[in-house]
Amino acid sequence: MDKLVIRGGNPLQGTLPVSGSKNTALALMSAALLTREPVILRHIPDLKDIRTFCRVMEVTGTEVAFDTGAHTLRIDAGPLNRSEAPYELVKRMRASFYMLGALLGRTGQARVSLPGGCAWGPRPVDLHIQGMKALGAEISLDKGYVVARAPLGRLKGGDFTLSPSSVGATINFLLAAVTAAGPSRLHGAATEPDVIEFCQMLTAMGAHIEGIGTRTLMISGVDALGGVSFDNCPDRIELGTFMIAAAIAGRPGEPVTLSHARPEHLGQVFLQAFEQTGSRVKVDGSTLEVIPPHRLTPVSISTDIYPGFPTDLQAQWTILLACADGNAKVLETIYHDRFKHIPELRRMGINAVVVGNEVVVEGGNPIEGAAVMSTDLRASVSLVLAGMVARGETHVLRIYHLDRGYEGLETKLAAAGIDVRRERYDEWADPS
Ligand code: UD1
Repeated sequence: MDKLVIRGGNPLQGTLPVSGSKNTALALMSAALLTREPVILRHIPDLKDIRTFCRVMEVTGTEVAFDTGAHTLRIDAGPLNRSEAPYELVKRMRASFYMLGALLGRTGQARVSLPGGCAWGPRPVDLHIQGMKALGAEISLDKGYVVARAPLGRLKGGDFTLSPSSVGATINFLLAAVTAAGPSRLHGAATEPDVIEFCQMLTAMGAHIEGIGTRTLMISGVDALGGVSFDNCPDRIELGTFMIAAAIAGRPGEPVTLSHARPEHLGQVFLQAFEQTGSRVKVDGSTLEVIPPHRLTPVSISTDIYPGFPTDLQAQWTILLACADGNAKVLETIYHDRFKHIPELRRMGINAVVVGNEVVVEGGNPIEGAAVMSTDLRASVSLVLAGMVARGETHVLRIYHLDRGYEGLETKLAAAGIDVRRERYDEWADPS
């Protein structure tokens, strides 16, 4: 297995480029299955999750060519001849469940493995399934698989309300609804930038969607969608992670540059909380300068759906609070159990305590390098951030989680002054 070894204390300086969005890319890729014509997607990050979804598509007979150097993906779902997403792939990545809507929309049938649990507790897909039923699908369960069928080979369309609002269920509903025989309406739709970009791609393919960016989407089904060339947007979670990295590890008063960014995708709540810490942000087109303060002010946050504070940035925010001057809280309202990183951070001397769905962080304590274990994607990057400001060496183990969602992280950080390297290790080796 691989680990990252970080020697803390070096200032972050220079420029960190932001890669294409992982979560948006996965949605865009699933849209490509709805057409018989080739689709070209640009700015696709070379990540394990993207490669997993390429495999998921290939199982259906879809031809996929990923030019990782050019970050360009060519998807030809013309030859698609198998409406199945197997457990072996879905268990690696939950977003594979997008195959349910994509295959139903394209072929009128789907056999997709249920994803099961995840590192931060149960993550149900009930709303995805109810959404398909509302569109007219007949659904049954067979040995861990969802088996879905449109009675006359094509969904009728229908109305559905998402409660709570869900990014994934919104995407699945749209995938199935855009080629339904009749109109559909989705209330409580997610308004995350990933969903908006996805709707724009569907529209460019010939779909009819009204209300894009609002909580109510109105869809008029069309007979067929066409091919498209589409540019993926920059990753807002990577941007937020780098902003936090700059605030805690940059030299006070000296700017760290973040390039290829879309800061408006982070939402006002994150941007305001960030500036309340005393960090300054200057935006010039797609380039951001973050100017770290001499002392970080602790700012409590509460995660929420867009435009609220992203749940995918709360673990990283905990490190910022650990570096701040005073105490503050992180309240998690989306995934109540998303705190697997806290026991690892405590091993580094961070005084953070989980109380229900809240973490109370006492800032200003010295952070010590230690061997720590990644448990999921965003938890892993919080350990890397802690390592950057820790005294001594931090070994972040099991970084396959990190490789799912951060493209070339150690290369980017090393180029910006951080002492970090990747090493292989044997998880079962006895201590020498
Ligand atoms: C997406 C993101 C993930 C992010 C999350 C929340 C991708 C690939 N992943 O995940 O990084 O953390 O949004 O911003 O884009 N829910 C149900 N029933 C369902 C579906 C969801 O109750 O059928 C609940 C969830 O438990 C959660 C809430 O809805 O409490 C929001 O989850 P959702 O937006 O669906 O997250 P994902 O799309 O899985």
